[in-house]
Amino acid sequence: MKVALTYNLKKKDDTKPPDYFSEFDSEETIKAIISALESKGHTVEALDVEYPRLFSYFRNNRVDIVFNIAEGKCGRFRESEVPAVLDYLDIPYTGSNTFSLALALNKALTKKILKAEGIPTPEFQLFTTGKETLNPALKFPLIVKPNREGSAKGINKNNVVCREEDLYKKVQEIISFYKQEALVEEFIDGKELTVGVLEDGKTTILPILEIDFSTCKKSGEYFYSWRIKEYQGNSDLGTTPTFYCPARLTSEEEARVKEAALKTHRAVGCFDISRTDIRLDKKGIPYVLEINPLPGLNPKESNFPLMAYAAGMQYEELIEAILMSASERNRV
Ligand SMILES: Nc1ncnc2c1ncn2[C@@H]1O[C@H](COP(=O)(O)OP(=O)(O)OP(=O)(O)O)[C@@H](O)[C@H]1O
Ligand SMILES: [Mg+2]
Repeated sequence: MKVALTYNLKKKDDTKPPDYFSEFDSEETIKAIISALESKGHTVEALDVEYPRLFSYFRNNRVDIVFNIAEGKCGRFRESEVPAVLDYLDIPYTGSNTFSLALALNKALTKKILKAEGIPTPEFQLFTTGKETLNPALKFPLIVKPNREGSAKGINKNNVVCREEDLYKKVQEIISFYKQEALVEEFIDGKELTVGVLEDGKTTILPILEIDFSTCKKSGEYFYSWRIKEYQGNSDLGTTPTFYCPARLTSEEEARVKEAALKTHRAVGCFDISRTDIRLDKKGIPYVLEINPLPGLNPKESNFPLMAYAAGMQYEELIEAILMSASERNRV
């Protein structure tokens, strides 16, 4: 097939905040996807979505399908931008549609749907102005996060607060720096898990990945913060979590976690691939934090490929499975 790969390339630019490009794709990821697609006999055109003529490229160059990993340019619907252009031009693409991408990018809205579906998610409150009265039912410690970011942007250990005064300070900081609402959630003490759903002809839930931060003591970090994600594997900084795949869970816990992830995938209406982040509390309740319909696909570092490898897949097979799932869906 003639495939176009749409992406946002991570760049070096010291004039931008240090986390500005965190959501974007490294050259290594882009090259790995291209060579995986080529190894399966496809021809590939790679397009950075910063390319100003993206729309006219697709109007003038027919491709069979787009392999989309683009985060988009800006704003609250950014991940839907490329799919919207492709829908308009009637070009099939991998992964979720405009609606699911926009929804998943809004954590608070997603959580409302999860609650309505009976899927556990931490109790929360959305702060739009920063002047709202804190809901007294919320129990400290609370974590404050930007409502519409990924890659743990704006999430570090001092986002976990135990006093109202610190909470309002952090909420204000997030609203003004990230120019969006701040999501305040009860902090769930427990195991960090992430679950991959892959539709390769049937719906497969990959072996659950557990991320253990007890090996990160030197870094001072104790959850999947921006520092841990950005500098993952750096032994000087101590940002070296240990991965267990499959996760160390009882069979009942495993079943509950997988069910929560699959229900989330379906509630948000994801296609082909998703990764749901979960915290399993001490009582064994799987609290869904969020779903990522565009999970990172770095062959060495990203969580999703690690789970695919544990299921016995090679990177090339994973990429082909995503492509084939999308291609089949678009044939019917
Ligand atoms: N309510 C919570 N309780 C405990 N830990 C939390 C909570 N919310 C976030 N965290 C921690 O912060 C990390 C990042 O949070 P979250 O997944 O919401 O952000 P993100 O930026 O969307 O992440 P991603 O990199 O997966 O896109 C989580 O993986 C977890 O370690
Ligand atoms: Mg996450």
